Order: sequence, then C-alpha cells, then structure tokens
Amino acid sequence: MELIFATHNPHKTREIQALLPDGISILSLKDIDFHEDIPENQSTLEGNAFEKANFIYEKFGMSCFADDTGLEIDALKGEPGVFSARYAGKKKDPQANMDKVLKKLEGEADRTARFRCVISLIIDGEKKRFDGVVNGQILKEKRGTQGFGYDPIFLPEGYDQTFAEMPLELKNKISHRSQAINKLADYLANRLKP
Ligand code: IMP
Repeated sequence: MELIFATHNPHKTREIQALLPDGISILSLKDIDFHEDIPENQSTLEGNAFEKANFIYEKFGMSCFADDTGLEIDALKGEPGVFSARYAGKKKDPQANMDKVLKKLEGEADRTARFRCVISLIIDGEKKRFDGVVNGQILKEKRGTQGFGYDPIFLPEGYDQTFAEMPLELKNKISHRSQAINKLADYLANRLKP
C-alpha cells in the first residue's frame, strides 16, 4: 500500500516510515514532485491536519495523511496552539517563541499545558483521525539542550526532566507524536491483515 505524507519535512517522513508496518510505503511530496506550500488556514490542529491531507487527496487522488502539532497552555487560553511554530513571528525562532511564552506567564500560578498531535488520514475516500497528548507544566526557565521547539520549558507529567533534558529515546517513546503515529501504524497494520 502506498500513502502520501503531506509534509515538506524529510525528517518527519523518515521517522514515520521507520515506525509503520512492512507493506506500507510512504511517498513524500518530493517523491510526487509537489513543491508548493500546502494550505494551513484553520483555527484548530484537527482542522489544519484535515485541510492538508484533503488538499493533497483531492489534487492527486491518492490515499494520504497529514499531521499538525501544537503546545496548548491553559492560562493562555490554548495559545500558542496552531501558531506554535510562528508564535513570536515569521522567523519561527524557537528561542523567541519560548521567551514570549515565559513573559506571558510571568506571575501566573497555573502552568498547566499539553502537547497535542493530530494525524488526519484519508484512505480510499474514508476519513480517520489519530491523536496523541502529553500533559505537563511550563517551567519558569529553560532547562536542557536536546530536542527542539518548546522542549526546554516543558516538564511532562510524571517526570522530573524536561523534554530537552531527557534522553531522546525516552521523549520519542512517550511523545504526543509517537502516540499518534503508533495509533496510525496499528490501524494500517489491521487494515493490511487478510
Ligand atoms: P508541527 O505541526 O509538527 O510542525 O509542529 C508545530 C510546532 O509545534 C513546532 O514548530 C514546534 O514549535 C512545536 N512542537 C511540535 N512538537 C514539538 C515537540 O515535540 N517539542 C517541542 N515543540 C514542539
């Protein structure tokens, strides 16, 4: 079975291919020679993931999936959410994004937050959704150098290391992204069963 992954990020494509069952082959947008931006204009992660998958499905008529991920902070009414990558501006600078969050949360006692990843799959015209969530807290300062994005300020529930302090293998095991990918992988593996 061939599936298009509607992303321009080659790192994500490789990561997902490694986790999917044998018999599923992922095509990147490069593989299908599509180099334009994919629209991402919705106000929710679910809406964006579906918009991206549906755009490619309608254009190429092939089964396809897309993801969207964000950090949702309760005291900021769910921000940065769909704006996570560009919270502090078009440069998509992770340090500036974290600084903006820390400034907005100054003096705020409620530090609860979560990373959420939504994968939208359109397979033979059928729509499916797979979610992954990690609950946690936003610290008052950055800790750790691994990972990316908001990892240094995010302390996952049940751990005493931030996402940027813990070994990458541990983060990848518990992360919102791996939860959603594993659900997608299970679904596809079941579909492949005779
Ligand atoms: P994307 O939808 O996977 O491109 O994620 C959007 C943005 O959310 C990224 O640019 C990061 O700022 C943030 N983000 C997503 N996943 C993570 C993570 O695992 N750690 C830290 N930040 C993340």
